[in-house]
Amino acid sequence: MIERSLVLIKPDAMERGLTGEIINRIEEEGLTLVAIKMLHMDLALAERHYAPHKDKPFFKSLTSYISSTPILAAIFEGEGAVNLIRKIMGATDPAKAAKGTIRGDLGIDIEHNSVHGSDSVETAKQEINLFFKKEEVFNLQ
Ligand code: RTP
Ligand code: MG
Repeated sequence: MIERSLVLIKPDAMERGLTGEIINRIEEEGLTLVAIKMLHMDLALAERHYAPHKDKPFFKSLTSYISSTPILAAIFEGEGAVNLIRKIMGATDPAKAAKGTIRGDLGIDIEHNSVHGSDSVETAKQEINLFFKKEEVFNLQ
């Protein structure tokens, strides 16, 4: 199935100039970049994006962190994009993520873990609508 997934390049990766490296790693796995923008998420957008975690103890810290600097939001498209990107990113906690994954190689700690990727096709659709208008997305078909 051809899918789309939302990727966010988080503040820790922005600060270290790792955007090109991260985009390369995803493109090298055969996925295509179909939308990208730099934006500074406000707390309201951060709270909507991470709404599924609103009752978690780390919610306040997570939303404040993701809205602390401008970030890159991107959409990648391709065969099985959602799970493939989860695989390329590695486990949530960089200390547990395998070598060769983005978080395993570049992540700092569980909060400063460099990237976000959608966790299902359904979530991806909702997340993409939060960040992009239809006319901002390249249509491959
Ligand atoms: P993401 O949504 O950012 O792609 O990460 P994920 O699916 O691998 O992990 P998720 O469970 O959705 O958690 C979202 C983000 O919350 C932070 N987190 N902190 N302190 C903690 O125990 C904790 N657990 C999760 C991480 O930054 C994670 O990316
Ligand atoms: Mg998640």
